[in-house]
Amino acid sequence: MRLLAHAVLTARCEIQGGALVAERKSPTAVLREGPRALSEAQVREIEEADLGSVGGVDIDDVIEYVHKDLKSLPDFITLYRKYLKQRWDVYDLDFTQDKIDWTEKMSEEERQSFIAVSSGFHHGERQVEIELPVFMIGASEEEKLHIAAQIEDEARHTVFFDRFYREVVGLAGDGIMDILDASFPWVSETFVGPFGLLAYQADEVRRNPYDERARVRYGTNYFLWIEGVLALSVMKVTLSYARWRGFLPAYYAGFTATCRDESRHVQGGMRYLQDAVRKDPSMISEIHDTLRTILSLSGVASRRIYFEPLGWTEQEVQTLFFQQLRRKLNDVGIDLPPDLEVLLEQVEPTLAGG
Ligand SMILES: [Fe+2]
Ligand SMILES: [Fe+2]
Repeated sequence: MRLLAHAVLTARCEIQGGALVAERKSPTAVLREGPRALSEAQVREIEEADLGSVGGVDIDDVIEYVHKDLKSLPDFITLYRKYLKQRWDVYDLDFTQDKIDWTEKMSEEERQSFIAVSSGFHHGERQVEIELPVFMIGASEEEKLHIAAQIEDEARHTVFFDRFYREVVGLAGDGIMDILDASFPWVSETFVGPFGLLAYQADEVRRNPYDERARVRYGTNYFLWIEGVLALSVMKVTLSYARWRGFLPAYYAGFTATCRDESRHVQGGMRYLQDAVRKDPSMISEIHDTLRTILSLSGVASRRIYFEPLGWTEQEVQTLFFQQLRRKLNDVGIDLPPDLEVLLEQVEPTLAGG
């Protein structure tokens, strides 16, 4: 059955594993709700959920949780200690039900739309894993702990997608790179925009690891754009689809745990950028210049992705994308000059992340 966006505000109750799952709201409902308040109990539930219980956490709450501490950013030791409590074992996930949902319950349109969106993540996780070590060289000792943890997170996210594409989508290959090669046909050409820029910026930092201006340019692309905007948008689109339909429980659990990991990455990245601008206010021009480059690149779309089978229109994805960027900039206190405001209005979403 092909699902159309706006078709219903609430989905039917789904029978999953013999249990009745509560009625789910539409995947796009949060666009009309705006920011939500999280109770202390909800924050505790998100922070303390293990892999067995994270499947019951609402993805909209986890995305709200990403923003919770942006106004008063935690220090790197706090983030490292959270990592020690929150890391999860990617090999504990059981994709048996996901395979059944993928092959027997999802339509061909849903599968194609899902892969078109998630393949940018499959490749993005691997690239952010391998580009991060150079950024650690010039970091403070406290930030090095946080980055070491983040590298391990990104390695685990890479394995998560490797397992999903092997065990659920059914791609074949011996090594991790074989599976990446097999999913490459679904990667939009626009992936090469921010991720190609990141490869260039990582090389710049590798050659001059203590060049703070090069590090701020790298951090703007990696932490603000790729993780803070692209990654959270993809997470929201695929996870709200899975939750709405009651499908792909191991994907939902693993990727929701990934989203919680990303909250630490985004908070650490915003902490780094905020500190860099406080130490040297002229650094704001590096942030603006990098955003100018990224927004110019992002206006180019080489291939149309159809979001409707996942319950989204392109316009709604774009709204989500703008909301994610605006909230990060506002919470961290980064203003945009007028030309960037104009560029922002013209930008199209590029779905990928890390
Ligand atoms: Fe990340
Ligand atoms: Fe990641």
